[in-house]
Amino acid sequence: MLRRLHKDQPASFAFTPANLDWAKGQMSKYPEGRQASAVIPLLWRAQEQEGWLSRPAIEVVADMLGMAYIRALEVATFYFMFHLQPVGSVAHIQICGTTSCMICGAEDLIAVCKELIAASPHTRSADGKFSWEEVECLGACTNAPMAQIGKDYYEDLTADKLRDLIAVFSTGEVPVAGSQNGRYSSEPLGGLTSLKDFESGRTQYNASVQRAVDLGDTIKRIDGSEVPHLTPWQKDKVKA
Ligand code: FES
Repeated sequence: MLRRLHKDQPASFAFTPANLDWAKGQMSKYPEGRQASAVIPLLWRAQEQEGWLSRPAIEVVADMLGMAYIRALEVATFYFMFHLQPVGSVAHIQICGTTSCMICGAEDLIAVCKELIAASPHTRSADGKFSWEEVECLGACTNAPMAQIGKDYYEDLTADKLRDLIAVFSTGEVPVAGSQNGRYSSEPLGGLTSLKDFESGRTQYNASVQRAVDLGDTIKRIDGSEVPHLTPWQKDKVKA
């Protein structure tokens, strides 16, 4: 899939003081001359701050890391985790369209996105709350078809279930992530057929879903404020 920078770009980008401190902390993880290794966390933090990755943001990160702009652009345009255009304020829905999901109904999910959000990907809904795109395999193939919404996976979807999810998001609620057909994780729909000893003592949800339920707030999970930005390997905080 072709991934381009958005046609409308802001004039500039600057990390907030707190994010700049954190970014410098990330850079301190690596030996002198190897700061480019911090490119993904810095781009990610820039995206969490702004909601998407603009060209100025990519270039600021490249300058901080001593990278040619094209090197940072290569990273930003390669990974679907980086949004190269403004996304919905509540949810950006990434529908996996690769083999397992395509066979199991991804096209039906995309049709729902076209109907309820916007006819074209990378376009915000009329109320600005939602956007969508088709992405490559997100690694949850046994729970196909699936979508990543914000930072969570919603799996074993049908068109009707996706409609319901969008309706719930619209009200400001956060639907429970994970399998939408009752599976705990990726076991057979009828339950475990082997390793049954491991079925006892588990929590209500699997670990990643439990984490999402505990955090509760999708907006926080878009802007990254759900977890403190710490650099515990530094005794003294890096000054901006
Ligand atoms: S094919 Fe959709 S998650 Fe892998």
